[in-house]
Amino acid sequence: MPRILITSALPYINGVKHLGTLAGSMLPADVYARFQRARGHEVLYVCATDEHGTPAELAAAEAGQDVFTYCEEQHRAQRDIGRRFGLSWDWFGRSSSPQNARLTQHLAEVLEDNRLIEERLDTLLYSIDDHRFLPDRYIEGTCPVCGYGQARGDQCDNCNSLLDPMDLKDPYSAVSGSRNLEARETRHLYLLQSRMQGPIRAWVDAKSEWPMLARSIAHKHLDEGLIDRGITRDLAWGVPVLRGGRPRPGFEAKVFYVWFDAPIEYIGATQEWADAGGGDWRRWWRTDAGAEDVRYVQFMGKDNVAFHAVSFPATLLGSGEPWKTVDTLKAFNWLNWYGEPFSTSHRRGVFLDTALEILPPDCWRWYLTANSPEHSDAAFTWEQLTASVNRDLADVLGNFVNRILKFCEARFDGAVPADGEPSALEHKLYADVSVRLADLTAQFEAIEARKAAQALRGLWAAGNEYLQAAAPWTAIKTDQARAAVIMRTALNLAALYARVSAPVIPFAAETITLALGDAWPPSWPSLDARAELDRLAPGSRVTVPEVLFRKIEEADVAAWAERFGGVPRPARSRDPRQII
Ligand code: MF3
Ligand code: ZN
Repeated sequence: MPRILITSALPYINGVKHLGTLAGSMLPADVYARFQRARGHEVLYVCATDEHGTPAELAAAEAGQDVFTYCEEQHRAQRDIGRRFGLSWDWFGRSSSPQNARLTQHLAEVLEDNRLIEERLDTLLYSIDDHRFLPDRYIEGTCPVCGYGQARGDQCDNCNSLLDPMDLKDPYSAVSGSRNLEARETRHLYLLQSRMQGPIRAWVDAKSEWPMLARSIAHKHLDEGLIDRGITRDLAWGVPVLRGGRPRPGFEAKVFYVWFDAPIEYIGATQEWADAGGGDWRRWWRTDAGAEDVRYVQFMGKDNVAFHAVSFPATLLGSGEPWKTVDTLKAFNWLNWYGEPFSTSHRRGVFLDTALEILPPDCWRWYLTANSPEHSDAAFTWEQLTASVNRDLADVLGNFVNRILKFCEARFDGAVPADGEPSALEHKLYADVSVRLADLTAQFEAIEARKAAQALRGLWAAGNEYLQAAAPWTAIKTDQARAAVIMRTALNLAALYARVSAPVIPFAAETITLALGDAWPPSWPSLDARAELDRLAPGSRVTVPEVLFRKIEEADVAAWAERFGGVPRPARSRDPRQII
């Protein structure tokens, strides 16, 4: 049984993330981690804040804080919000950790020894008034592609083109606004990815397990030809550039580029976990220390694929050291907010802190899994959110659990009944449930978020159909033993739902599990539905939980639309669909 290493793209430190980040990397990684733990695998799921680079420095300056304090506070805030969403990280680290600095410096050194890093002389913009070079986002100007006036040095926010700061028209300093700039020469380190073209292509081609989206993006970059990449910047905040344990001459005021050290933090975070007493990091990352038994799965948005399919592998493979590399790279498209992508820089969409003010985490987790931007972009709408919560969670799952537990309390004294033998109806249910369980297990295993949600929905609906057909409220009047079988089967169905839904809706699953007196954390069921539906010990006590899922009201949607935007002003209408 392989051990499973899971990472989700490291969120930038610059502020609380939005629902798109949750939907497109952190949540599916958590769902998968919970599923594989329940299957009995040893799982290590790590994440961290991505703290270096110009976005962190600029955001700290805007917040009026020094960058250390800013990062520390934001790290804590992101970690707390993640936990409130139920993200079950084994470790949530920081790319500014000493572990990551040491690893980054080490890898750069061996890459240079292997002639895959070299110094080059660059000509870059220097701000005379700010007394500094202006890398990446420190420079703004007019986009050479679309003419947008506030394009950033590294990327245009309007047309999304990746830019070279030297190509901006009418550039000015993002720090001071000064246009008093000149081109100056400065030395930088380059990672010679062009020399890695052959090995990287062979490596990608051998990755038969990668889903389509990641594979096609990787091939696009390989077909265009890998280019050498500057991996240092004229900045103060980052991993210092060393040579032989000392500041590298000429690089005293430079640090590694954020995209060089960020993915290395996957290893760094594992070392942080290990140093805090978690275990041996080498078993997860070094194929000479047991990591050949590890299956490594990465989760990320599609804009991150190039860095994970090309650049990070170039670092690891180029080192010539026995590092574990990714086996499955699961990439996601965008979650859109009324026609445009959710955006941190534009504060567009719903952010994770405010999301939890309006709905409990399971509602978001379910909605974002069932409508995952998986095989194409997905549109966030209040209407779909309402439908997901009200129909799937409240009407189907919540109602089923509530009805049977209340019935059990009223008619069976709150205990799992013992009498009676299954009839044809139960045998039909066993057959149906085992087919559905097989499908659900396969979808989770294949990391197919939407199909897994669909399979769950089908399983929940099957319980309602069974209950409708079996009609225990009628049976109880004439045939106590028959009613007992139905009750026992339905209670077991609820327990089964809690176990298989736990990866997606862990909070509700725990409530249901505890109400049924079942074991938490759950283990994944076998495909033997008959055994799984006769598992709770007869005579054991059950209780009726609080309402599992509160329905979203028309007035809620109107208030949220008012607060967050995204829909026309609410009309006075009785039908919620008309106001959306
Ligand atoms: N911070 C980046 C983003 O939000 C992702 C970095 S992933 C890493 O797009 F692995 F490089 F850290
Ligand atoms: Zn542009």
